[in-house]
Amino acid sequence: MKTTKKKLNPTLDLIENRRSIRKYDPAPLEREEKDAILHAAMRAPTAGAMMLYSIIEVEEQALKDQLVDSCDHQDFVATAPYILLFVADYQRWMDLYEAAGCEERAAELGIRARMPSEGDLVLALMDALIAAQTAVIAAESLGIGSCYIGDIIENWEIHRDLFCLPRYTFPAALLCFGRPAEKPSGLQKPRFEGKFIVHKNQYRRFSPGELNDLHLPFGAHSFEMRNFPNGGHNVVQANYIRKFTAEFSWEMTRSVREMLKNWS
Ligand SMILES: Cc1cc2nc3c(=O)[nH]c(=O)nc-3n(C[C@H](O)[C@H](O)[C@H](O)COP(=O)(O)O)c2cc1C
Repeated sequence: MKTTKKKLNPTLDLIENRRSIRKYDPAPLEREEKDAILHAAMRAPTAGAMMLYSIIEVEEQALKDQLVDSCDHQDFVATAPYILLFVADYQRWMDLYEAAGCEERAAELGIRARMPSEGDLVLALMDALIAAQTAVIAAESLGIGSCYIGDIIENWEIHRDLFCLPRYTFPAALLCFGRPAEKPSGLQKPRFEGKFIVHKNQYRRFSPGELNDLHLPFGAHSFEMRNFPNGGHNVVQANYIRKFTAEFSWEMTRSVREMLKNWS
């Protein structure tokens, strides 16, 4: 299966040509543009129409500067004219349930009360991420670039305090927005071929022979001998050292575990 490059319509063109943008024109976004992005995010599909997320507009420069430190020292975060934090949010519904006297009524009806569980968290994360990606596409349609900052799930205690996040919330996605300062240099980031990603009816694991071809769109076989500065002898080893076993991955694990203790 080939990943299609065919231009079919303006929406598919937009998706095909989107790239993560990390260098921004410092001009602020117009309020109208921000509202259009926010509105599009809120029109995204949402589980049970519950909108299990909140969106925080990060406007203070001091907050942006702190995010540089707490999100693995990515300096460009401080230069983004507009930043949105998408928060998985069950707190609003728990507050609503309480204010509406739901537990009391459930007790009268003999229905067992419950608190948000890991399942509710995953559902809220889905909701928040779907809204976030809708914001990305909306921004792109306005000529505004974006970049996710995955490191927002690290340093949970710092981000909780920075944004006053209550118990049943979790920062799902941080998105930097801004008009591209320049056309991104170099080629588009390739993707693995569709045959490794799209399965028919059931999941299939790949043989080492097949896995060797995984990195061909990146210009090499997965296990081809190369010497990387971090000590890896092939592109996969280099990735394992640079990403999977990196300090930020350990911090991500610690942070999410701490948050889960708090949530459940
Ligand atoms: C969940 C997620 C987390 C990401 N985190 C970061 C990040 O912390 N810093 C960064 O510069 N880019 C980040 N990115 C952007 C990816 O690096 C980028 O999407 C990928 O390299 C493909 O490039 P493209 O978006 O230009 O196609 C993230 C993307 C996603 C979806």
